[in-house]
Amino acid sequence: MYNDNPTIAGLDNKVVDESKQGQVFGAEFAVKKPGDKHFYIESYGCQMNFSDSEIVASILGEAGYGPTRDMEAADLILINTCSIREKAEDTVRKRLRVFDKVKQRKPGTMVGVLGCMAERLKAKFLDEEKLVDIVVGPDAYRDLPGLVAGAEEGEKGVNVFLSREETYADISPVRLQSNGVTAFISIMRGCDNMCSFCVVPYTRGRERSRSAFSIVAEATDLFDKGFREVTLLGQNVDSYKWTNPETEDTVNFAELLAMTAAVDPDLRIRFSTSHPKDITDDVLYAMRDHENVCKYIHLPVQSGNSRILDLMNRTYDREWYKAKIDRIYEIMPDCAISSDIITGFCTETEEEHQDTVSMVDYAQYSMSYMFFYSERPGTPAARKLEDDVPLEVKKRRLTEIIELQTSIARKLNAEQVGKTFKVLIEGDSKKSDQEWKGRTTQNRMVIFPKLEGQKPGDYVTVNIHDSTSATLFGTQVEPQK
Ligand code: SAH
Ligand code: SF4
Ligand code: F3S
Repeated sequence: MYNDNPTIAGLDNKVVDESKQGQVFGAEFAVKKPGDKHFYIESYGCQMNFSDSEIVASILGEAGYGPTRDMEAADLILINTCSIREKAEDTVRKRLRVFDKVKQRKPGTMVGVLGCMAERLKAKFLDEEKLVDIVVGPDAYRDLPGLVAGAEEGEKGVNVFLSREETYADISPVRLQSNGVTAFISIMRGCDNMCSFCVVPYTRGRERSRSAFSIVAEATDLFDKGFREVTLLGQNVDSYKWTNPETEDTVNFAELLAMTAAVDPDLRIRFSTSHPKDITDDVLYAMRDHENVCKYIHLPVQSGNSRILDLMNRTYDREWYKAKIDRIYEIMPDCAISSDIITGFCTETEEEHQDTVSMVDYAQYSMSYMFFYSERPGTPAARKLEDDVPLEVKKRRLTEIIELQTSIARKLNAEQVGKTFKVLIEGDSKKSDQEWKGRTTQNRMVIFPKLEGQKPGDYVTVNIHDSTSATLFGTQVEPQK
């Protein structure tokens, strides 16, 4: 779930998500009007957190706070935090040291901690970090104006109440850091899965699905504003289930895909994350049958070994996962699949690790997010299993997986050379304003020279002539009939 996140320039880590974190707003939000109150927000973690920051921006806007990119100019500094691995929490602590300096220079600046780390540590945060004024969990953002008003009076505040109903369905997110073409739509919150390594069920609470009508309305509104791609977000989108309170009819994920695909044939639909146990043939058929539902599935395997998968409480085994991969390629031969992988989980042997290696090879992932296991306090694994694989071993296994994944991605990308794809233009390439960057339906990034009269949000046809493990290079051609 980590790709496409805005990045903080200069953080040097190519593998895991923590590198791609932190940045704030697009240029349209840069202006600070004299007299207005302003907040500055940094986001870390998964796309859900980035999406939540857009909800927070909307709620604070109603309370008279406008966004600024300039931390020093802000009345309120917010950090939307992640607890998924120890390193994610370390990053947050480091940023707090930076905010501390700003606060010393500008007494009266308020600092708020939002998101998963706020939920995990609760009021403890106020004891541990003296600079923090407010601590707000993921389901309590409607309370922000009240908590901020309290903080303005010098009163510290905490709200980490987890809700069974909150989906922020009625809140129209303020699109931060937007390219004007692609946007996230949160379709559900929380997670009921209890994978033994994972902190999310504790920081995000119970799973609940948002009204299908409000999702379709948000997609329609985005399309009308010029957006051409939406990513439906949830920790486990395949278990989306919403019951219409008036008719008692339920909408499942396959049906939701069809409903959002019907908004406009020119609106691309992506989604993340799929849990292997929940993705149904109906979802695969909905993907196959709608050209605008992208042929790309993020299907985290975590481990390729059945004993480890059982310890992880993933509820599928190696053979079951392989059958799912077979089924996807059978229904959509051109579908790309990506994964999340954890190396060195409790008690993992060398042989069991090799099962993960062979799974990466079997599945032929277009890319993966790869991590070494990081024990999280309070999770079932932390309570019941010993974190007994030495750090060097975890890291060596991770390197092995990364090297294999990179070589597979390089090979798969090389196979695209000579082929022609429909590409949605997202903006200028990083290196040149003479070139566009965009993506294929399989989520492969393509760089190609611009032609006269084109703009981000246009669909173009690109023939691929070169590739690396991460990028395709091409030239534009006439659309094929
Ligand atoms: N809901 C998604 C994952 C969300 S967390 C899913 O089920 O696939 C994103 C990824 O972080 C996970 O897929 C997992 O690979 C990784 N992760 C979660 N907890 C971790 C831990 N304790 N140590 C290392 N990686 C972890
Ligand atoms: Fe965590 Fe598992 Fe839920 Fe994903 S499905 S958020 S890994 S508990
Ligand atoms: Fe996301 Fe991190 Fe929370 S991955 S759900 S922000 S713990």
